[in-house]
Amino acid sequence: MGKGSNRFDTIILGAGAAGMMCAAYAGGRVLLVDQARAAGEKIRISGGGRCNFTNLYAGPENFISQNPHFVKSALSRYTQWDFIDLVSRHGIASHEKTLGQLFCDESAKQIIHMLVAEMGAAEVRLRTTVSAIQRIGDGFEVTLDTGEVLRSRNFVVACGGKSIPKMGASGLGYQIAGRFGLPVTPTRPALVPLTFGEMFKPLAGVALDARVSCGGVSFDEAVLFTHRGLSGPVILQISSYWREGMPITLNLWPAGDLLERLREQRQKSGRRDISTNLAEWLPKRLVTYLAALHGWQGNLADHSDAALAGIVQAITAWELHPTGTEGYRTAEVTLGGVDTDALSSKTMQAKDVEGLYFIGEVVDVTGWLGGFNFQWAWSSGWAAGVAI
Ligand code: FDA
Repeated sequence: MGKGSNRFDTIILGAGAAGMMCAAYAGGRVLLVDQARAAGEKIRISGGGRCNFTNLYAGPENFISQNPHFVKSALSRYTQWDFIDLVSRHGIASHEKTLGQLFCDESAKQIIHMLVAEMGAAEVRLRTTVSAIQRIGDGFEVTLDTGEVLRSRNFVVACGGKSIPKMGASGLGYQIAGRFGLPVTPTRPALVPLTFGEMFKPLAGVALDARVSCGGVSFDEAVLFTHRGLSGPVILQISSYWREGMPITLNLWPAGDLLERLREQRQKSGRRDISTNLAEWLPKRLVTYLAALHGWQGNLADHSDAALAGIVQAITAWELHPTGTEGYRTAEVTLGGVDTDALSSKTMQAKDVEGLYFIGEVVDVTGWLGGFNFQWAWSSGWAAGVAI
């Protein structure tokens, strides 16, 4: 199959993280088709331009899926250490920012350049999409929006989810799954800020470390109050577990015994105003807001143990009812996707359609914030690539 012929061994829809990884390991003649103007656009903007490309502690427990066991095979066969090794072989310097999150020292573009180099002779067709695909014999006939009709033995769906439609997220992968009879679990925005109407407007810009819980799951990291509601890593994390109607609980004093500390302070400086005192330990605007909300006033000495416990309760177990999320417009990922029951966990191939593969975010596998989603793209892309 020479260049110029319309026959390929493998056509990959989506030249993003998973698609490029797959192309790097798939043998034969490979074509990537992507509607964007450049490959790996989400990698480019990820991690504030430095790409949090994996996590030192990545394991199956960091992923959400209807079948939590599905990720195990790919993650254990292509691990974070394999990707870290690849990155260092390309001379890309990186550092751990926090909680095992690895970032490029310089630029996310280095990861894109690395993947392009690893893809070798794979061909890439940009600003192009697939307008039809059908089974022909033991392969596929793929019609591009340019009108060209191509043939391939394998077809890999790597076009991501619905997050950030402005960047070309399309949901086409789910349509292709449906077209070949694969079920798709309900999708929703994840790793996304939560909205609360206007209630936090006075606190916009306030940030502090917190613990947030919802439905029995908790995360510790920074929370950020915004004009629209709550954001920051801890909120993005919990958003993947939140559902409409559920409350979340915000603990703004996640480490240490606040009641004990207040009692000691009452003993030492009982004449101090309660809010002035709290504002030495917590952001002043937040304390003013809470004091107005709960009517806190007076000196520490005016407060009984029970009254102090009430204040502690308000700070450490603030129950809040989000009105919604910011949606796909700002969501980093899409929860749900192609049902893993229909895929081989070893190869990502559709169990009932030989040669059809689904990898990356389009699959019902969603990682936590912190490099886990890219690790899934690398592991699942590799698994399909070596199987092809
Ligand atoms: P990805 O979205 O990377 O690629 C899909 C490709 O398919 C795109 O190139 C797109 O143009 C193309 N495509 C879509 N529809 C098409 C169509 N109809 N026709 C043709 N082409 C089509 N994760 C992480 O681990 N660490 C991080 O630091 C970040 N940071 C981050 C920041 C922001 C702002 C976002 C939005 C997301 C992240 N993520 C992240 C998540 C991460 O970007 C995401 O999980 C992976 O990119 C998913 O890889 P995929 O290859 O599956 O999809």
